[in-house]
Amino acid sequence: MNAGDFWRGQRVLITGGLGMIGSTIAAKLVPFGADITLVDARIEPYGANLFNIDSIRNDMRVNIADIRDKEAMKWLVQEKDVIFNLAGQVSHNDSMQDPFLDADINYIGHLNVLECVRRHNPDALVVHSGSRLQFGRIESNPVSEAHPLRPRTPYAMNKTAAENMYMFYSVVHGIKVVMFRIANPYGPRSQMRHSKYSMVNWFIRLAMEGKPLTIFGDGSQIRDYIFVDDLAEAFISAAVSQACIGEVFNVGSGTGISFKEMTECIAKVVGKGTVRYVPWPADYVNVETGDYVTNISKLARASGWRPMTDLESGIARTVAYYQENMARYI
Ligand SMILES: NC(=O)c1ccc[n+]([C@@H]2O[C@H](COP(=O)([O-])OP(=O)(O)OC[C@H]3O[C@@H](n4cnc5c(N)ncnc54)[C@H](O)[C@@H]3O)[C@@H](O)[C@H]2O)c1
Repeated sequence: MNAGDFWRGQRVLITGGLGMIGSTIAAKLVPFGADITLVDARIEPYGANLFNIDSIRNDMRVNIADIRDKEAMKWLVQEKDVIFNLAGQVSHNDSMQDPFLDADINYIGHLNVLECVRRHNPDALVVHSGSRLQFGRIESNPVSEAHPLRPRTPYAMNKTAAENMYMFYSVVHGIKVVMFRIANPYGPRSQMRHSKYSMVNWFIRLAMEGKPLTIFGDGSQIRDYIFVDDLAEAFISAAVSQACIGEVFNVGSGTGISFKEMTECIAKVVGKGTVRYVPWPADYVNVETGDYVTNISKLARASGWRPMTDLESGIARTVAYYQENMARYI
């Protein structure tokens, strides 16, 4: 069965659906005829933006609710086939300032969704959006799912605890789950107001404003940047594939790029912006993970998914989007 046939009439709930990743998944499912409901609490300073669904607003329901709200989620999870659970506190730096809020959203909030599913819709498939930060300091690249998990921030710890909870609901309660550990996503529909997360997007904004792009150290640190369209396709492919159920997957581009290369690529595409090097701030050194490149072979094998977008093309598409729409994001 092709993806279009699968998704026609599927009842899909996307939590955090007004954010970058959730709204991109929604935009891809609308043409397939999926029956979509978005849930989002529109909490500052995260990425909720109604403009993200501007062109598809009439093709879905939008519910302003919090995944921690037991009564709201009880009703919202019902009569859904697939739940993409993207709602989250996304800044690992903020999680160090307010670990309680992070735990409340990224652990308790997700526990609430799972418990509502168990009680009111146990046949639904639920997909979790974890992070590559769950691995902590990297021992060797590319990083497979078997790499030890040694999270170094409350954000990464709560994502790991939530992942374990998803696994518990799978093994003990028989709920269908898929768990992702996502590398560094970027692209259209991301918030552009601050640098708390989505570094590539923030650097694109700075470059477009002709400001310097500041790099810690010599810029040799390697990251794996995944274009949001490729990431959304990964979610959609995994949800269709029986082989993905009950499994954890690392999701990234599979390509390592240094900070220096990434910033130079942005400056080249934008045609503005200079790169500036400063020493590592002490509080960043403590949580730095070292180089990170995703081993994507498990997800590729299980779902047939492959990333399609190299960094330069992804940055070019992102820059084109914000050249048109920046005022909607700042
Ligand atoms: N962007 C990244 O760098 C990154 C990397 C790895 C994993 N992730 C995870 O992917 C998910 C989506 O991230 P994104 O990049 O689209 O970020 P985003 O900020 O664009 O979207 C997150 C959305 O969740 C909503 N939200 C937050 N708390 C909520 C709550 N309690 N109830 C309902 N809605 C709530 C926000 O309002 C926002 O619209 C998050 O869970 C995030 O942790 C993101």
